Amino acid sequence: MRPKRVKAFAPATISNLGPGFDVLGLAIDRPGDFVIASRTRETGLTFSVRAGSVEVPTSVEENVAAHVASLMLDEFKPSFGVNMVLEKRMPVGSGLGSSAASSAAAVVAVNALLPRPLKKTELLRFAVEGERKASGSPHADNVAPSLLGGLCLIRSYDPLDVVSVPIRNTLVWVVVHPHIVVRTEDARRMLPDQVPLRSAVRQWGNVSGLTVGLMKGNARLVGMSIEDVIVEPVRATLISGFHEVKRAALDAGAYGCSISGSGPSIFAVAHSMRSAKKIGTAIMEEFTRTSGITSDVYISRVNLEGAHILKKIRR
Ligand code: HSE
Repeated sequence: MRPKRVKAFAPATISNLGPGFDVLGLAIDRPGDFVIASRTRETGLTFSVRAGSVEVPTSVEENVAAHVASLMLDEFKPSFGVNMVLEKRMPVGSGLGSSAASSAAAVVAVNALLPRPLKKTELLRFAVEGERKASGSPHADNVAPSLLGGLCLIRSYDPLDVVSVPIRNTLVWVVVHPHIVVRTEDARRMLPDQVPLRSAVRQWGNVSGLTVGLMKGNARLVGMSIEDVIVEPVRATLISGFHEVKRAALDAGAYGCSISGSGPSIFAVAHSMRSAKKIGTAIMEEFTRTSGITSDVYISRVNLEGAHILKKIRR
């Protein structure tokens, strides 16, 4: 018997990882978003948000979680309807893949109620539509790792082809979220349409180095490859104190440091939990010192599970 009610969780993500604009992303343990979905007698979707202090759209038309759920219900036309509650825990405009986590939790929750649930990889095409809704671009480098877990490589967008990269999960990821907002749509609009071949060569060398480094758990190779000569120099201007903060992270022992997604969060890589805590503190202190900005720090290895059902109720 299929469950009548489920609660799903989907984790935050670090996308781009420095050089891999729109093609690399990985999941971390927290923060994340929750979605509770219940079957109803009436067909169609009813939707509400529990958001605390986070401001998100609450209508079915505008909210990404409701949007992706509607797409699934329109396509599969189950004999029942769905009542969905989004427990929005993630800050928006943070660079932590907030909209992606809402979409990933929503597709996993609705899927669990369907008579014939799809595989997670088959849910990706719905979840990506949440990103199109949120920022006007269906980039998958947050939503794929939030849904599937681990490190994802978006090998192609046309057609969408996501490769789950097998990694040695030895490194520790530090993410610091300064309390300022950067809208992904704005941060994308400022990027150049064309890049010099010389920059492209450097960038794809780094993307490949980073991928191999993560597969081998080679901290030095990972650190050297977290170099973004195309996007970071442009977006750094959106993050007050970015260069000082990056310097502080590297001085505190980080192997590499760059912008998480479209920012303003910053990520850094460490070889141990202890080192990660030291780096996290150094970044937070530097944000406060240079700009008076307070921040939150999250420390985690790569989350290999991705979005999943926490609770099922059968009747
Ligand atoms: N790859 C996307 C970007 C991620 O950098 O715009 C958005 O979080």
